[in-house]
Amino acid sequence: MQDKVAFKQQLIEKVRHVFKTNTFQGYSRWKKTNYRFIAPARREYTYQWLWDTGFHAIVLSHFDTELAKSEIKTFLLGQWEDGFLPHVIFWGNKKILPHWAYIESKRSFRPHTTAITQPPILAIGVESIYEKDPDKEFLKEVLPKLAHHHRWLVTNRDEDADRLIAIISPNESGMDELPVFQYVAGFLGEDAVRLHWAYRKGDLRNYYHNYDNKIILKEDYFNVEELLFNCVFAEASRSLSRLFDEIGNKEEASYFEMMAAKTEESIIRKCWDEEDEIFYSLYSHAEKPARVKTIASLLPLFLDGLRGQKLTTLIEKHLLNENEFWTPYPVPTVARNEPHYHPKETPRHKIKLLWRGPTWINTNWFIVKGLRKHGYHKIADQIVDKMCEMVDKHGFREYYNPETGQGYRRENFGWSTLLLDLL
Ligand code: GLC
Repeated sequence: MQDKVAFKQQLIEKVRHVFKTNTFQGYSRWKKTNYRFIAPARREYTYQWLWDTGFHAIVLSHFDTELAKSEIKTFLLGQWEDGFLPHVIFWGNKKILPHWAYIESKRSFRPHTTAITQPPILAIGVESIYEKDPDKEFLKEVLPKLAHHHRWLVTNRDEDADRLIAIISPNESGMDELPVFQYVAGFLGEDAVRLHWAYRKGDLRNYYHNYDNKIILKEDYFNVEELLFNCVFAEASRSLSRLFDEIGNKEEASYFEMMAAKTEESIIRKCWDEEDEIFYSLYSHAEKPARVKTIASLLPLFLDGLRGQKLTTLIEKHLLNENEFWTPYPVPTVARNEPHYHPKETPRHKIKLLWRGPTWINTNWFIVKGLRKHGYHKIADQIVDKMCEMVDKHGFREYYNPETGQGYRRENFGWSTLLLDLL
């Protein structure tokens, strides 16, 4: 490949093109405001998603901090009064939405936002922006809103007060059909129709309960202390703490530092499986480990506080293991030696199932960041080189084959531009 500087310069131009292509704007009658946001893709994913927005902001922070700030502010317009941040905002005035929009929202003829959330990454995006553009007014505007959301999660999703936040739908993890959730649903087979049903039946029950979190968690049919979500929650709380410190709010700064420490401590202590020497998400009130190796099992690498034996075991025994995660184009979302590992795209005639093997740029972003935090620069660079190769050959696709690097599904996919942040 051509030299890195030229590659990066070209990449910025390509990223600008992706974001321009995926921009939607107009006047929202329900919100009574003009809106402008970057969608994950030009087709199908034409709404504003929570964690996609955070990733877009991280990338934008490198060349357009004003646009990055506006992405975050636009998303925060969709915040509910109680602090909740939905996973999708349906801007625009289209009367009919896709079927999932109804199921994942409170009962309504035309929902404006869903009633489930996604990994709370926005504070991390805000910190990326602030590092390049130290605008305290921006912090004063957005931090209280993000803090409100973090408190909402603690109040509504942490019944046992271990500061591990529970998710109530696979989609709240952002990794919709990750095999972890079929363990939770109790179906370990591979039949696409039955799998789909296993994943979606909890959502239907949630809809039936009109997304009443108390009832849903009490009934315990889908109650998962999920690793990726909680690692993001911990590190985003740390970002909040540092940012509150910047604007002189010591009380909030120490509150969020404590929150981060507690969540991190719970992840490292409770989710570690002594037998398999890896982390697993926990489900139900009984906190059972979902014993399947996926990318989420490696996500604690992203935690500031992962040290010692658990850190080295995670890297040496799992990440660098060719039977698990060290494929030619790492890091696959499911370990190679799991029966649920499918490196290819779902065939067109089949029900779409995501996150069952392919390598995604956004999950790689967490792994690379984590490796660098802990001083594993060489391994991080090896992963980034492979990502450059995939993007160079196939463009910003939604995901890639971990065996061949082949890109799949949507083109000009928003968060695949995260590569820029790693160069
Ligand atoms: C898919 C992904 C989800 C993402 C959304 C928009 O549903 O699983 O994580 O936010 O697409 O990109």
